[in-house]
Amino acid sequence: MKNVGFVGWRGMVGSVLMQRMTEERDFDAIRPVFFSTSQHGQPSPVFGGHQGTLQDAFDLDALSALDIIITCQGGDYTNEIYPKLREIGWKGYWIDAASSLRMKDDAIIILDPVNKSVIHEGIDKGVKTFVGGNCTVSLMLMSLGGLFANNLVEWASVATYQAASGGGARHMRELLTQMGMLHNSVAHELQNPASAILDIERNVTALTRSGTLPTDNFGVPLAGGLIPWIDKQLDNGQTKEEWKGQAETNKILNTSSIIPVDGLCVRIGALRCHSQAFTLKLKKDVSIPEIEQMLATHNDWVRVIPNDRELSMRELTPAAVTGTMNTPVGRLRKLNMGPEYLSAFTVGDQLLWGAAEPLRRMLRILL
Ligand code: HSE
Repeated sequence: MKNVGFVGWRGMVGSVLMQRMTEERDFDAIRPVFFSTSQHGQPSPVFGGHQGTLQDAFDLDALSALDIIITCQGGDYTNEIYPKLREIGWKGYWIDAASSLRMKDDAIIILDPVNKSVIHEGIDKGVKTFVGGNCTVSLMLMSLGGLFANNLVEWASVATYQAASGGGARHMRELLTQMGMLHNSVAHELQNPASAILDIERNVTALTRSGTLPTDNFGVPLAGGLIPWIDKQLDNGQTKEEWKGQAETNKILNTSSIIPVDGLCVRIGALRCHSQAFTLKLKKDVSIPEIEQMLATHNDWVRVIPNDRELSMRELTPAAVTGTMNTPVGRLRKLNMGPEYLSAFTVGDQLLWGAAEPLRRMLRILL
């Protein structure tokens, strides 16, 4: 059995990883060692019946005794520890949720339902570093993988609707606190059906602009609105999140010529499901039934939702998808621009396929 170290297992992505590994009985197949950046020496969590003591996440000797390390601890930890481990000659497998190593030549972005062959070729060539993709990219490829696999996508333009969880646990709390404060401020008036809605709205808007809502994490109020910016500003006018769309998609697919992917990334008040609206330019005119067939057969988690009002409202929303492994795609129709122009709308749980699931599946591949 392989010795597998876990760092950052207590955080949000780490907790989802632990939950999925428990559900899939992954702990039965490994000897887990749990690490902590602050509480080493205390008892380990008991997953799959294994007992032990928390190890120091900065102890290079303890880390380098492992066959595989899985970290959800974040980029700062990766930047500090990974180079040191490699420098002292550690040859184990590093599986990482953070983005720091993603674009390195000797790292593979993992999403095995989409790039299993790239992963296996990498393993055969001795690649030891495997990194989960950006959540919007992974979720796009889980939903639209059939079109990419059939080499049909000339380019993709996207508008994202990204959930608070993409920012982190504190962002989710902040959003809910903002929602609660806004509601509390007008709860009394809302109970009276005769009250004027524009008075209620004016109060909500005034509170939103008052500077009293907590905004330490998002920087500005999000509840009841949106933020058309995610991550750092780049010199070319893109956000870092928008930049990742093309860079990571092409790296995951190992394309020989770049498929352009670009658009606008927007934060909305969903909790943990990212949605994305696509305009796709196809390389040729393919009928909608053929497209649906390609999409539906690409992997076990994609669901093609017919372009129907009731079904879209019931099955193609964060409310329907949150907490499930499904990655539905719908609103499929040809656009006025011509028969090669396709619209599509996708939804996926940002913490499952968008973060934790590719990591546990990579572990399974290595066992
Ligand atoms: N950068 C993403 C977001 C997180 O902010 O939603 C997933 O990689």
